[in-house]
Amino acid sequence: MALNALDRHVVVTGFMGAGKTTLGRDLARRLGRPFHDVDHAIEEVHGPIWDIFARDGEAAFRAIEAEFVRAATAARDPSVIAVGGGAVETRGLLRETDAFVLFVDVDVDTAWERVRRSNRPLARDESEFRRRYELRQPMYEEVADGTASDSDGAVLAAAGVHHETGSLDDLGALVPGDGRVALVGDAVVLGIYGPRAQEALGKRFASLHELPPGESAKQGAVLERLWGELRLDRSGTIVALGGGCTTDLAGFAAATYLRGVPWVAVPTTLVGQVDAAVGGKTAIDIPGGKNLVGAFHWPARVVIDETLLETLPERERRQGLAELVKTQLLAGRELDVRGAAAYKSAVCLRDPYDHGDRRWLNLGHTFAHALEAAADFDLPHGDAVALGLLAALRLSGRDTAAVEARLAPKAVAVDVERAWQALLRDKKRSGDTINVVLLGGNGPVVEARPAADVRRELERLIA
Ligand SMILES: NC(=O)c1ccc[n+]([C@@H]2O[C@H](COP(=O)([O-])OP(=O)(O)OC[C@H]3O[C@@H](n4cnc5c(N)ncnc54)[C@H](O)[C@@H]3O)[C@@H](O)[C@H]2O)c1
Repeated sequence: MALNALDRHVVVTGFMGAGKTTLGRDLARRLGRPFHDVDHAIEEVHGPIWDIFARDGEAAFRAIEAEFVRAATAARDPSVIAVGGGAVETRGLLRETDAFVLFVDVDVDTAWERVRRSNRPLARDESEFRRRYELRQPMYEEVADGTASDSDGAVLAAAGVHHETGSLDDLGALVPGDGRVALVGDAVVLGIYGPRAQEALGKRFASLHELPPGESAKQGAVLERLWGELRLDRSGTIVALGGGCTTDLAGFAAATYLRGVPWVAVPTTLVGQVDAAVGGKTAIDIPGGKNLVGAFHWPARVVIDETLLETLPERERRQGLAELVKTQLLAGRELDVRGAAAYKSAVCLRDPYDHGDRRWLNLGHTFAHALEAAADFDLPHGDAVALGLLAALRLSGRDTAAVEARLAPKAVAVDVERAWQALLRDKKRSGDTINVVLLGGNGPVVEARPAADVRRELERLIA
């Protein structure tokens, strides 16, 4: 069973009229992957499918289909492959491919409305159509690694993200496998949600590990203590329940303990739900800087239960709001938590190891990091990001009104020269230009801008 589509093909399946081609093509675009429509490819070689059915029968068609699916999934670079609704009847085919199987779910009435006037061989008779639907639904469910009915849902499923109200209480079922579970959280979060999480884990619960609050969790000494406390074998899973500090530290412990055990992130802050728990980056801080030691270790699952945010202090919510607004600017549209988690998931699946498009997520962060460093990190990250977004928008020639209205950034009193030096350290400078993430006409771009312009925008953020 594939837990996510990281470095794997996605095979999109579902009944006739589910919208597999539309959703598959959209998913491929969002993940930056090639898209193959197996029915379409078969028709190009063998002529219309209804003709193959009429001429040679369904079995012959299934054999051709299997051949196409095998060829498409044999390609080294992961792609998205939409298969016909009946591919599921070719026993074992989808399993054999080792792909992530995405089931596009649709209700039978919608499906029938969509296909009734087509010339599909299996959509001529309504009662036969409905009979097949009933027959196939359990087959899809059996082969599916994930289920979706819209574009964000497809991305979230591909990333292994489960977004549902009340899912904390289903944790026992949502943690993949059946091994033992070590639950990690800080004192505040464990105080509020620890007992519920523990109960939800039931017999799988093995141990509880408390971290110091906030950034002080992301220290070598805390990691070492956690390594020492863990008693999991390789079938075990670490569950990180908390904000970005908890998921960064526990995720890194999972990446390293026994040379890597699976982990599940249950983000309890807005920062965590729209950003930190998604994308597989884990890290601790060292005296030389934040997040300088870490690993890419994609969580086996991310469980997003927005009701956990109800207890989040306003100050913490603000931090997350800055990342949410950043994501909206990148996406070019309003997003809720689910949409923002899907946006980040797509970018990270597209560039899991941070060689390209993932840099977009740093919109405004060049400036934010410089201000934080100049303020000796006595500036909330969200406030710094809010200011950084202003600078990024101005350099992009964009209006800043939305950021001002949503985040009300206030210029900070820090030393200009210190901030500038920090920015230069953070950014590789080539000649007299500095690479910054900007918003272009077709979405985010990384562009070289004259150092003088970047400095001017930095100075505008300083009181
Ligand atoms: N790995 C990544 O991709 C990534 C991305 C963004 C940020 N981060 C990291 O995330 C960290 C910041 O995360 P954060 O802002 O979530 O901070 P955090 O983990 O420190 O949590 C903030 C505070 O809120 C409390 N809290 C958490 N959930 C609560 C809840 N539901 N109710 C009441 N209180 C709650 C915590 O006890 C803590 O004191 C930074 O270290 C940053 O580097 C990582």
